[in-house]
Amino acid sequence: MSVRRLAKEQPETFAFSKDTKAKAEWWIKKYPENRRQSAVIPILWLVQKQEGWVSEPAIRAIGELLGMPFIRVLEVATFYTMFQLEPVGKAALIQVCGTTPCMLRGANELMRVCKEKIGPKDELSADGRFTWQEVECLGACANAPMAQINDYYYEDLTPETMAQIIDDFAAGKSPKPGSRVGRHTSEPEGGAKVLTDPTLYDGSRAKKIKSLPNAKPAAEKAPA
Ligand code: FES
Repeated sequence: MSVRRLAKEQPETFAFSKDTKAKAEWWIKKYPENRRQSAVIPILWLVQKQEGWVSEPAIRAIGELLGMPFIRVLEVATFYTMFQLEPVGKAALIQVCGTTPCMLRGANELMRVCKEKIGPKDELSADGRFTWQEVECLGACANAPMAQINDYYYEDLTPETMAQIIDDFAAGKSPKPGSRVGRHTSEPEGGAKVLTDPTLYDGSRAKKIKSLPNAKPAAEKAPA
């Protein structure tokens, strides 16, 4: 996990863009007026979407917007690893899962490729276009090894496919997310092997039962 401290170099100021401000107001309205602080996580996320990372002036601006002590916003921003506290690569932020299932399936090799092509972990590449990090389980263990790149998952990776993906981002392309062995989500390679009959899950069997003349009426609803 990266060190959760604010970057040494900080911008002088931060300003919400019109779009970010409008979205932030939408989130604030979801909560009672005296609970507007509840919107802190989505607003930190919006700010990160706007700037690419969360700076100290942005933390102050969020505190002002939510009527919240700055230290409270800082606590949230430093606790959740999804918030980047330093500038990250503009082309790609690559987060390689390093937890056991991905490690057993070759995550170390993916990290070796990242190191060779980008540079040291947690550091902005020399050209400012890439950052790579090691992160904990991203919940896609069935497709190990995998990495999150910007907003999407790239799964069933090998050193070769990882290298190709980095090259594609470097060339300004947007490589397609998902499995690199052609499987649909986490189905077996070659397609689903069980539950292949859609009537097992599309509701048509239940409809047929309901339409039988001697079908029992639905049980009375319990009083609220
Ligand atoms: S261990 Fe890598 S996604 Fe779960």
